[in-house]
Amino acid sequence: MILNELTTSITESVELNDFFDSLCEANYENYEGLIKEHNINFETLLPFASWSSDSYQRICLANNDDCELILLCWDEGQKTPIHSHDGQKCWVYFAKGEFEECLYAKGDKNRLLHKNRVEEGQVTFLTDEIGFHSLENRSSGLGMTLHLYANPIKKCQVYSESEEDFVDKEMAFDVDLSDSNLNAVMNQDLHTFVSLAQDLLNDEIENPVSPRIPSGELKKALNIGLSEEGIDEDQFVETLKKVVLATPKTSSNLFFNQLFGGRESKAVLGDLLAVMLNNSMYTYKVGGVQVGIEKEILDQVIDRLDYGPNAGGTIPTGGSMSNFMAILMARDKYNEASRQTGLKTNMIAYTSAESHYSIEKNAAFIGIGRENVRKIPANELGEMNVTLLKDAIQKDIEAGHAPFFVNATAGTTVLGAFDSIKEINEVCKEHDVWMHVDGAYEGAVILSEKYKHMLDGTKEADSFSFNPHKMLGTPLTCSIIVVKDKKHLLDSFSNSAVYLYQTEEDDYNLGKTSFQCGRRNDALKLWTLWKSKGRLGLEKIVDKQYELSDYARDYVGNHPDYELYSFDNSIAICFNYKGIPPVQLCTDLYESDELMVGYGKFRENEFVRMVTINSSNSIEDIKNFFNIIEEYYA
Ligand SMILES: Cc1ncc(COP(=O)(O)O)c(C=O)c1O
Repeated sequence: MILNELTTSITESVELNDFFDSLCEANYENYEGLIKEHNINFETLLPFASWSSDSYQRICLANNDDCELILLCWDEGQKTPIHSHDGQKCWVYFAKGEFEECLYAKGDKNRLLHKNRVEEGQVTFLTDEIGFHSLENRSSGLGMTLHLYANPIKKCQVYSESEEDFVDKEMAFDVDLSDSNLNAVMNQDLHTFVSLAQDLLNDEIENPVSPRIPSGELKKALNIGLSEEGIDEDQFVETLKKVVLATPKTSSNLFFNQLFGGRESKAVLGDLLAVMLNNSMYTYKVGGVQVGIEKEILDQVIDRLDYGPNAGGTIPTGGSMSNFMAILMARDKYNEASRQTGLKTNMIAYTSAESHYSIEKNAAFIGIGRENVRKIPANELGEMNVTLLKDAIQKDIEAGHAPFFVNATAGTTVLGAFDSIKEINEVCKEHDVWMHVDGAYEGAVILSEKYKHMLDGTKEADSFSFNPHKMLGTPLTCSIIVVKDKKHLLDSFSNSAVYLYQTEEDDYNLGKTSFQCGRRNDALKLWTLWKSKGRLGLEKIVDKQYELSDYARDYVGNHPDYELYSFDNSIAICFNYKGIPPVQLCTDLYESDELMVGYGKFRENEFVRMVTINSSNSIEDIKNFFNIIEEYYA
């Protein structure tokens, strides 16, 4: 049983490193003098110590080809067997506790030469010529000894009670903190991480809004400049802490600015592990079980959509990329030649005027051009006007153009409106064009029995995407696109590459259905969340956001100083307060470090848009949001 926490890396200790360097320079002869000179004592060694009730612990502090510095940590009564030192010189500094050292004639456990009581502060010296020895912690409590071996000991002879003789034993460390051990540096960095993460969590409660640093003053306020030389570890950690605490806090209960917020702990855990594992998701050979995990997630989504046996999917870098993949697959389906020869016809895409800007951007990327995106006006609820869509398609056909893609939005970026997927789908079927459902924002309702009806009709769409990094609270980024017929993913994204695809079938080589070559593992964070909470847990996360939004909408709707602009079943609450221009309100609150919220526009109205996407918020947090505004303008 380990009795204390993780040890610290010796790379952090200037004293010990200096001590070790002086030992090497002095040919180790003046061990006792150097210990005094460098003031090495129990306190200096304590950060590197770890004890176990099972056996004394051997902790390597430093080593090179000539020398080894080993810390031994002893629980009460722990004892070494009688042993040799592989012909090397050995000094022992007794840093804590009282010990008994027994000296035996070389290789003879029956010839005890003498028995010594050794106390704190003493140093003893031994070679095999002098004899073999055993050490025992005789104090009533923990003990600590510092051993110097010149040269390092690789193996020694140890008396074995069972074999009743001396046997050869390879030396091993319980903990290796030496510079040469990369794990020691990593351990230290993990320590630093945990400590900084805890500082952040505490600060999120005390200061939910980080004090704003005007962009022009950043370099003056924080040491973010890079230079030829690195900085020392203490300064480095100090700088890192300042940077972490000065960064806008997107997980606090006063962040309502964006379509993400909060922090699902199990998803964070998964993402941290994904960083440690550092797989790339293109092949089974490199991704292994992580590929299986991504496929399991995709299968679950496909099942919930009832998309059928030919469906497939991938996890792109975000909602914009999911939309890109959808429009590209549509282009390739209706204009196969375009991949080789470029575009020769006028291909037209349709999306609502309220849809995300990525649709137009992507139209430029795939070569059809922004002007070939028809922005269909929305009705008074912010949903695409399907009659106008039909008219636009008809007009383009008559003009000799080629309609090929319609994007329906499931949760528009500003109002959170759901386009009428069923009706749009009928139009798409009639004209044989690809229908994509962009559910980046609120498509996670697919996981909720109560709200999944908002996606009715998606089963008939060609593709559907949603962002777990929005409603499900996973770290950025996590976006999923599924396609009814996997063939289109393969047609548009697969490429042969002998240097990459070397084992398994295409089904497990996910690079054949993704945009990127090297691809981050964005599956694990969703899997850890889903695995730990189950689908029902994810449903709760989704439902809670609508619960909070119902409260916020009621609050705004029932308060005479507010004007409400949003509609039911949306987690975006759009409002104005006391006629204050929304730009001013949002900027005032931001610049005075009160809270973070943004503004948006629908038709001629501009308004504040607060989003109840952080499911760890409570009704109290929502009340607090409004209270802060009211007090600020009281
Ligand atoms: C409806 C919609 N689609 C797509 C996106 C883009 O997603 P991402 O930010 O992951 O690129 C957003 C982002 O807010 C969105 O609201």
